[in-house]
Amino acid sequence: MNSIAAIPEEIINLFDKSNVPLSLASAGNDKPLIATNKKFCELTGYDNSEIIGKNCRFLQGHYDNTEARKNIHQFLDGNFGLSIRQPLINVKADGTPFINLLYMSRLCDASGNTRFILASQFDISNTQTEKLAQYGIALGDSIKKISPIAYQAGIILEGSIAAIANSTAMIAQAKLTLADLQSARHIF
Ligand SMILES: Cc1cc2nc3c(=O)[nH]c(=O)nc-3n(C[C@H](O)[C@H](O)[C@H](O)COP(=O)(O)O)c2cc1C
Repeated sequence: MNSIAAIPEEIINLFDKSNVPLSLASAGNDKPLIATNKKFCELTGYDNSEIIGKNCRFLQGHYDNTEARKNIHQFLDGNFGLSIRQPLINVKADGTPFINLLYMSRLCDASGNTRFILASQFDISNTQTEKLAQYGIALGDSIKKISPIAYQAGIILEGSIAAIANSTAMIAQAKLTLADLQSARHIF
């Protein structure tokens, strides 16, 4: 039996105990979502049943996110580093835009082949520096719990969660971007 054909059940169980939004995609084909947790559904307004099997780009609505997607492609192609933190414009199920600070890291087998992608989402446009720092700690905590369970199943979780350098500037930029989007919505 190939022990890494499926994601261990314990990891899925940890997902719902986590205090942060989490999502997991298969590394194959178009990276379909195979799991999301309650916090992800609370943040985005989507129900698990509507989104499993879809690529998470549906959250971008009609926004282009050209630069952000370029960085994500580089990460997914293995040319960016072990993990990525990338802000991009997303839209909740009710149509509300927000700036999603997307964290992603790869789950690899012993030969170094990427099997799954783990991601976490955070609404950086409606937050303060302390809240982002708390989120960073909670995400690190979840990753610390997922990592050894994955390892037992022959899967290595790459990357670590470092404090976000210059988070005040990042939050300020996200708020500005959101304000621009909102004023554009008033015009049309
Ligand atoms: C596990 C996982 C979670 C993701 N979560 C998000 C997300 O919350 N929001 C988003 O806009 N893109 C997310 N993405 C990125 C998109 O799925 C996609 O990779 C990105 O838009 C670049 O590909 P594209 O140019 O083909 O759309 C996620 C990807 C993966 C693999």
